[in-house]
Parts: sequence; C-alpha cells; structure tokens
Amino acid sequence: MKKARIITDRHYIKGEVDKNIFGSFTEQLGRCIYEGIYEPDSKFADEDGFRCDVIDLVRELDVPIIRWPGGNFVSGYNWEDGIGPKESRPARLELAWGVTEDNQFGIDEFATWCKKVEADPLVAVNLGTGTPEDARRLVEYCNHPSGTALSDLRIKHGYKEPHGIKYWCLGNEMDGPWQIGHKTAYEYARVANETAKVMKWVDPSIKLVACGSSGLWMKTFGEWEVTVLDECYDNVDYISLHTYYGNQAKDTPSFLANTVGFNDFIKAVISICDYVKAKRHSRKDIMLSFDEWNVWYHSHNVHFEKWSKHPHQLEDHYNFEDALLVGGMLISLINNCDRVKIGCLAQLINVIAPIMTNKDGAFRQTTFWPFAQASKYGRGTALDLRIDCPKYDAKNYTDVPILDAAAVANDEKETISLFIVNKDLAEDVEVTCDLRQYEGYRVKESTELVSDDLLATNWFNDEKLRPTKTDNAAIDGGILTAVLKPASWNVIILKKQA
Ligand code: AHR
Repeated sequence: MKKARIITDRHYIKGEVDKNIFGSFTEQLGRCIYEGIYEPDSKFADEDGFRCDVIDLVRELDVPIIRWPGGNFVSGYNWEDGIGPKESRPARLELAWGVTEDNQFGIDEFATWCKKVEADPLVAVNLGTGTPEDARRLVEYCNHPSGTALSDLRIKHGYKEPHGIKYWCLGNEMDGPWQIGHKTAYEYARVANETAKVMKWVDPSIKLVACGSSGLWMKTFGEWEVTVLDECYDNVDYISLHTYYGNQAKDTPSFLANTVGFNDFIKAVISICDYVKAKRHSRKDIMLSFDEWNVWYHSHNVHFEKWSKHPHQLEDHYNFEDALLVGGMLISLINNCDRVKIGCLAQLINVIAPIMTNKDGAFRQTTFWPFAQASKYGRGTALDLRIDCPKYDAKNYTDVPILDAAAVANDEKETISLFIVNKDLAEDVEVTCDLRQYEGYRVKESTELVSDDLLATNWFNDEKLRPTKTDNAAIDGGILTAVLKPASWNVIILKKQA
C-alpha cells in the first residue's frame, strides 16, 4: 500500500469558495435546449414546456450559475429572433454547428427556466456578427424596468419584472479561427471594451467576462490576454478560460495527469492578469471565469444530417475514468478559489453533459457524481493544503502527484469536506492528515466512487456507477487516516461532535 500525507493548518486558507465555481453551461446546440431543457410535447413537460425530470436533476446538481446561449452558437445569434410569439419567430441556418435553429427558446425562456432551477443566468452576447449596440439593446430588454421601447416590449411579451441578469460574457472564443466573426486580439479588445462600456451604462450593476484564450495550446495565448486586458481592464471583471481533455491515446495515467495542465493554465492566466495590473498601477484584480471545462472526445466522429433541427451532436457517453478527471478538475477549481470565481462545466444536458435524456426519461452520467458532491459539500473556506505523496511521470508532465486533493471548511456547519482523487491505478493509498487543530471533529460520512472497469458507463435505468458509503476513514487522536482504493473519487465529511 502506498502512503501519503495531507498537511493542513486551519489558519492557512486559500480563500472563500465562490459558489459560482460550480456553474454549468447550456448551448443552443444538439439536444441541449430542445429535448433537454425544452420539450413541450414531452410527458415530462410543465406549463412552460420545460422538462420537469431535467429540472429535478439540475436542482440535484445544485448549479448556481448557467451560461447560455453559447458557445460557438452565440457568434451568429440575433437575440431578437428568439423573443415574442413563438409562431412568428424565424427559422435560421445556424452556421456554427450546421443545423437549423427555429428560435422557440430565447432569452425570456432561458431567464424563466433559470428561476425554476434556482440558478443565475450568465448570458453571452454576440461579438462575432453582433455589435455593441445589439448587446446594449439586450441588456436594456432584460434589465431596464419599463418606460422604453425595449423594456416595454419585454413587458408586452409577458415579463413585467426585469430579468435582472447580472453576469454577462463578452462573446465566445473570439481567438479561434472556427468562430463566426473571429478576430485578432486587438480587434476583439476594442469591440469588447466599447460593448462593455455601453452595457454598463445601461446597467452599472452587471459583471462582465472578457474572452480569454480557447485553450493554453492556442498560439496566441498570453499575448491575447495582455492585449484584451490592456484595452478592457477598467470595464471588465473576469477573463475566461476554456479547456477540454480526452483520452484518445488510451493512456489513463496521462489522461488523469491533465489536472496538472489545468492548474498550470489557471496559474498562467493569474500571472498575466497581475502583469497587466502591475503595468497599470491598478488596485483592481481581474478574476477568472473558467466558463468551459470538461472531458470531450467520445463524440468527435459522430455524423448528423446537415441543417437538421437539434440532431444528436456532441453526445459523449462518459465512463468511469472521465469522472475521475472531472473530480480532479473540480479540486483544482476549489484550490484556486482566491482567483477563479466562476466555473462552468461544459455542458449540462445531452451535449457533453452529466444529464442525458430520451423521450422516456433521463439518467445521470458518471461525471454527474463528482460534480454533485463538490457542489453540495464544497461551499465554505478552502484550506491551503500541501500534499506529500508519491509521483509519476506521464506523457506531457513529470512528477504528477498520485493524489489530487482539496479541503473545504464550513465554520457555520462545523464541517470539513475532503475531496481526493487517487490516480494510482493499481494500489491503495493510505492517507493521513493531522487535524488536531479541529478538536472534536469526527468522520460523519465517507463515500467513494470506484469501479474495476475504467470504461464502465451509466445508461437509462442502469446507473450502476454512483458513490457508495464506506468505512475507510477514521480519526484517532486528531489524526485522520483514510485508505483510498486505486482509481477512486473520495469524499470524506468531518463534523464537530456536539
Ligand atoms: O462546448 C462546446 C463548444 O466548445 C463551445 O460551443 C465552444 O465555445 C467550444 O469550442
């Protein structure tokens, strides 16, 4: 059995976890919206045409913020196509994904659905084909109370109260040549700043996310962020990061080692933000919005009929090892909570998603579980851990720790939640953690997500992979000892005894 030590001091804290790091993303893509969120003909539909079974699962995930409408989709989207009587809404060729969009779901439906799932909307504006004026008009339509043409139009459509949308993205992946209206860093920076200005003039309370790079691997990475922040620094609050990983090479140790790259990406963007801050002699910190992250590769070669309506696109069927990496990335978001303030698992339903539907029901993919548990137990203060554990070399990284771990203390509830991934595929790891500073704390519950089969999956009416309770952890004399199975996601909840 391998041995490891988690070193913690209750006074060494990383920061408060912003609940918004447990956000997600819904794009007008594939069957995410149509057949996922909105399916008026479904036996599960409520009075607004939203699927109640999906609403229940999204609530179970406890997602505090949801990004929409894209993604690549937003860069050709005219939001005014998606408002008003449904029968008058136009069908359009949707160039980002090669389908037909009939606009039966738009901003009003999204805001209504977000209320039902108790999430804040994070709305992206179109800076591909769209203009600052289009974005400004959208803020006015959504957030201005009444007495102007656009706010009164919202009221006429049945929404007397403003939607009050606080969080907005200034476009999507504008550094990518695949994007409709792709821009150079300077072209984007200028339009983003002008858009930010007028959006905030309409509603000064809103928070804005500028587009960072679509990945650490982009040739323009670094220069892009500097150029964008040089222009937009005073008018934006966050910069975005996006990344996806896959195990095409069928090399699980290297696949799981991607948490190192994920963490490096975050650290690099923090450094860039702080470089621009220093150059400007500014007192303001730019925060990070990791508003697209996930595993994505299983569905890359699936074909669909061009210009069809909501075809099966990007429907990754996740396996057990994918859940381990998702758990590792959640741990990294928690451990960087002093600067990462928004995180969006991309995506939420049917498209590279933890929730899948068909006409008869819905099921939880393997990746549902680490997300649900981190979202439920990961609210509080993240402790600044040191992890002393064996390391291994992977294809892209050396000295990869076999454990990813985070700890979140919640003083109000008098709990500590430990999240640990054991990436060792062969051996148990015995972890110890000196918790003598937390007098009276005992193990309340320990669960593990394990499988003998790294490729095991869930399916409709067959959710075999789910966390199970275990008695693998105990505190004796203030020292926690836990034995973690090979290839496992572990959540240990400690609670002060009354
Ligand atoms: O989430 C799928 C796609 O990935 C998004 O539309 C785009 O922003 C990214 O490239």
